[in-house]
Amino acid sequence: MHFDVLTIFPEFFAPFRTTGVLGRAVERSLIGIDVHDMRDWADNKWRQLDDEPYGGGPGMVIQAPPVITAVREIERRGDRVRTVLLSPRGRMLDQTLVEELAGETRLLVLCGRYEGFDERVAEILEPDEVSIGDYILGGGEVAAMVVMEAVARLVPGVVGDPESVAEDSFVAGLLDHPSYTRPLEVEGCEVPEVLRSGNHAKIARWRLERGVEATVTRRPDLIIKNWDRYPAEVRRLIRRYAPGLDPERG
Ligand code: ADE
Repeated sequence: MHFDVLTIFPEFFAPFRTTGVLGRAVERSLIGIDVHDMRDWADNKWRQLDDEPYGGGPGMVIQAPPVITAVREIERRGDRVRTVLLSPRGRMLDQTLVEELAGETRLLVLCGRYEGFDERVAEILEPDEVSIGDYILGGGEVAAMVVMEAVARLVPGVVGDPESVAEDSFVAGLLDHPSYTRPLEVEGCEVPEVLRSGNHAKIARWRLERGVEATVTRRPDLIIKNWDRYPAEVRRLIRRYAPGLDPERG
């Protein structure tokens, strides 16, 4: 997977590319991250990209021509690329979209700022507009990192323990089970007995049940949305904890 990032704040991405799981993945060439300074495509010596909005109002808008030129130039540098524009107006990011994006070989991630891009960037380039949630960030940079981290985790080899990704897939659409480590007791709260039993089948069962239970009570919307992805065993558990959430119930 190769990511190209187009931003007016390339320095945001320096630690992101070199730290932790992603840093190791870049080092091992499992993924590539090229960060491009949008201002390199400005048509004036002040490297200015933004201008006042037509119709008036607060804030500035990034002009379309330099962004369009930059995207086309970066596109030509490699294989076929899918362009993602981070915007609060976009399709909400979820694991289904993350999996879809992970199926690409190249992603060009466009980070907006200020009041956003001139709408003709979207009209002409037809990128996938993606939002990471119903709130407004100062710009697309943090959102771009969210997309890239979620996608990179699905690239084979990036997450050290493949079992962890396989398990994520089995329990996709469920909240995680609770986890514990030493010490055994904290202010009177003990680690559940089953996790100390050494019985791996029982532990797996307990974890699955706690994941289903947490999802049913905290995020019933996830159950409805992900029903088709659940294995039969997960569906059986959901019926037990919350029969009303089973969409197949007559
Ligand atoms: N830019 C500003 N807010 C955003 C959001 N919620 N998602 C994606 N990009 C954004």
